[in-house]
Amino acid sequence: MGTSNYFSIKCDEKTKGTELDYLQIKGGKKLHGTVTISGAKNAALPVIAATILSDKEVTLTNLPNVVDIRTLLHLLTMLGGSVQHEGTTAKINNTTINSTKAVYEIVSQMRASILVLGPLLARFGECEVSLPGGCAIGQRPIDLHLKALEALGAKIEIKGGYVRAEAPNGLIGAKIIFDKITVGGTENIVMAAALAKGVTTITNAAKEPEIVQLCEMIRDAGVQIEGIGSSELIIHGTAGKPLSFKTTEIIPDRIEAGTYLCAGAITHSPITLEKVNPEHIRTSIDKLESMGCSFDINNDTITIYPAETLKPVNLITTEYPGFPTDMQAQFMAVATMADGDSLIEERLFENRFMHVGELNRLGADIWLKGSVAAVHPVEGLNGADVMATDLRASSALVLAALVAKGTTNIHRIYHLDRGYDDLEGKLSGLGADIIRLKEGE
Ligand code: EPZ
Repeated sequence: MGTSNYFSIKCDEKTKGTELDYLQIKGGKKLHGTVTISGAKNAALPVIAATILSDKEVTLTNLPNVVDIRTLLHLLTMLGGSVQHEGTTAKINNTTINSTKAVYEIVSQMRASILVLGPLLARFGECEVSLPGGCAIGQRPIDLHLKALEALGAKIEIKGGYVRAEAPNGLIGAKIIFDKITVGGTENIVMAAALAKGVTTITNAAKEPEIVQLCEMIRDAGVQIEGIGSSELIIHGTAGKPLSFKTTEIIPDRIEAGTYLCAGAITHSPITLEKVNPEHIRTSIDKLESMGCSFDINNDTITIYPAETLKPVNLITTEYPGFPTDMQAQFMAVATMADGDSLIEERLFENRFMHVGELNRLGADIWLKGSVAAVHPVEGLNGADVMATDLRASSALVLAALVAKGTTNIHRIYHLDRGYDDLEGKLSGLGADIIRLKEGE
């Protein structure tokens, strides 16, 4: 969908449009065929935020058509930037930014809006960004972002629910050691350091593919960055000189890809994924192999061949290249169909098990103790009404519904719309019986 329309309406109206939608899935269909993987939401968000570092128009391609992307583009226009968004391409021009305040109205809709903090501060010497607060998966503080920006010389104050940051004479390169690996924190500091004066070293940096893409985009704009893809990044800042970015193509969404592999595994169907980077989903492939699935892997395509009988799986979520927390819920759905007990430990977020109760409503037998879920095998799942609680929890319910007997209605699917591009279209294309309906109609 083109966004010219979108920018003429308020973001909350847009969200309301899908708040009343629900998905109805009739389970039991075998899937087959090919699905094209979209650009990665979590790569596109920091890349969009990074365009603030530029004083020229920047073109981004392969953007996924999801609400979070439109929300961040809308935020840029609220700051005074101009955005032409058509299909999967956006041309962003931030030369006209005339406000550095990211308001509550937007940040409360999407906590990744905090990614504008580093670039706004680096480019304009001051900004105010609403505090994102907690969310359905945990408290998610931003203390590490703030501490690192202070180390770069920023003065930070929290007042009236906003982070106010100032560095009137510019940021100064520093040595930063993150106490804990943080994806968003690393992204914010990479962007801030790109325009700082002198050299910034980030130790214990996150090294997700999304961070590699951000670093490469900034490096290709002339900023020397050493250690890309490692846990120590060394960034030689431009001392305030804005960047000039090349056209950037967003990398494939490794979590969307993993979700479709899980769809093949749980429905015992062969599925081919196109436009995917197999390296980025190595751990998901390994786990599915250990469950009995097999794969045909080429440069940018993967075919999953289902297991005759799914074996149980044990997994612990951890930072990349370990098993991603963003795939935990989907694997739990698949594990409900295994022929033995699986153990799943969530180490990154303290509350990322909201899908357990909903999977149990579908007939799963999952026990939760602290950060560990024990998934006991059941004969089969049965359709029911369930509630989506966050993005990945929602996709786990979709996977379970694909094999549940009868009809499952998944409510509150605006969570899915935030991060899955045309989920029902892609699943229908693979042969699933899935439709989007409006509550009360
Ligand atoms: C990113 O969130 C992703 N979001 C999340 O994807 C993903 O689950 C997460 O990384 C982990 O991989 C985007 O990329 C937009 P973190 P982020 O900072 O950056 C704690 C999805 O479904 N922490 O790496 O917010 C934090 O509470 C989502 O697409 C602090 O304590 O995650 C968590 O326990 C949801 N202080 C851990 O670190 C801080 O200042 C990792 O969080 C920052 C983080």
